[in-house]
Amino acid sequence: MDPAPDDRTAVTPPSPDGQSRRALLRAGAAAVAAGTSAALAACLESDSSVDVPPGVDDPTSLPDGQHAWNDALAHDADGNVRPPAHHVFLELSLRGGPDGSARETVETTLRDLERAVAWGPEGVLFTLGYTRAYVDRFDASLEGVSLPEPDPMPVLAAESDVTVATNDALLHLASDDAAVVLAVEEALFGDRQRLDGTSLSGSLADVFERVDRRTGFVGPGLPAERQQGLEGLPDGDPVPEEAPFFMGFRSGFRESQATEDRVTIADGPFAGGTTQHVETLELELGSWFEASSHDQRVARLFSPDHADREAVGKYGDRLGTDPGVLETVDRIADDARERGIVGHAQKLARARDDGDPVLLRRDVNTTDGDVCGLHFVSLQRELSEFRRVRRAMAGDEFRQYGVGPRQGNGILRYVRLRHWGDYFVPPRRQRALPRPNPDT
Ligand code: HEM
Repeated sequence: MDPAPDDRTAVTPPSPDGQSRRALLRAGAAAVAAGTSAALAACLESDSSVDVPPGVDDPTSLPDGQHAWNDALAHDADGNVRPPAHHVFLELSLRGGPDGSARETVETTLRDLERAVAWGPEGVLFTLGYTRAYVDRFDASLEGVSLPEPDPMPVLAAESDVTVATNDALLHLASDDAAVVLAVEEALFGDRQRLDGTSLSGSLADVFERVDRRTGFVGPGLPAERQQGLEGLPDGDPVPEEAPFFMGFRSGFRESQATEDRVTIADGPFAGGTTQHVETLELELGSWFEASSHDQRVARLFSPDHADREAVGKYGDRLGTDPGVLETVDRIADDARERGIVGHAQKLARARDDGDPVLLRRDVNTTDGDVCGLHFVSLQRELSEFRRVRRAMAGDEFRQYGVGPRQGNGILRYVRLRHWGDYFVPPRRQRALPRPNPDT
């Protein structure tokens, strides 16, 4: 997958004229998905307004948590955190052992990046997380963090055709600017020498092989734009223009999200880090839009009560910062028995901790492989919390009311699990090939 060294370019993106940023944003989702130099060139050519805002002089001034993105992110008109628009997920496999020299290459390259490009959605935000397979390279156990084998079976009994993350690491890059996220990916792996005037002195390609590449996008307009020409979608462009997600609704409301503090590891050598779960779900948007009305979609995604009260609006526009699902939890058995439907968010709000959400979700749409899907990304202090919440989504207990996965059990009928990965994301100071027991 790694291009030959002579594929290097020295493109310095031109400075902004601000003219057609929106056009670029839209063209960008396709370019990021293609992920080639040609796509980048097309992306840059289609609008000359791409620049790389410079980073910090002192990378140690950046937040301790690699996942501490929220302070750098903008908010929507209601006050919900607005995620970066364009995402690349790279599964990485170590070329050699995780020794001191590889560790130094990784740290130097990432620090160079932080000096070259702003930490934020106008520049780039990223996390580098590690798998169980990485930890197993060492003759020591991971201190203070429980990192299970990647296996959906204990959580979801009946899934098939699911791949699991068995490489060493996952690099998640995110930016509002498609050209920046592509340029950063190229620079990190030595396929481009300069980032708007600054060079990275090392290359992650000396340490890691990129074995898988996934891409995503999120934000109003982007799913509507991407729905055109995709297989499996009914005619008539059913995804509303304003919807940030393919299923047609907003998500990630402030009161339904854990805070970054809540998902941050509190003690031990990896204090300040977090754990990350990433799964890919294929979406059956044909039946989602064709076999159900707007009210039924609201009932399945939020709750039947939300549909009765018309509380959601066309795409979640009436919801502000609180989708109001906690209030619907008590009636869930009645909804199952009497209505034959339980809402996705209604089910999941049952898994809060004393009323507080435990997952910080950063999911994004995808059209990887020309299939509509969702890369579901969540951060939590402990992966056991994720599994507990995911079991609440499976909602097995509603079978007793005849509400199984093929019936009105949230959105289960419309999603199919394809990939499952669990990672630990060390704090920034430990991000470069950490030893599992750094204090000993
Ligand atoms: C295609 C897949 C999915 C879609 C379209 C989706 C969409 C939504 C929507 C619209 C909400 C309501 C409000 C909000 O986001 O703030 C929600 C809530 C939530 N979803 Fe999902 N979701 C999906 C998959 C998942 C998965 C795989 C999980 C993993 C456990 C999950 C966990 C949650 C949680 C924890 C909440 C918040 C519940 C609360 O308020 O406490 N979702 N989701």
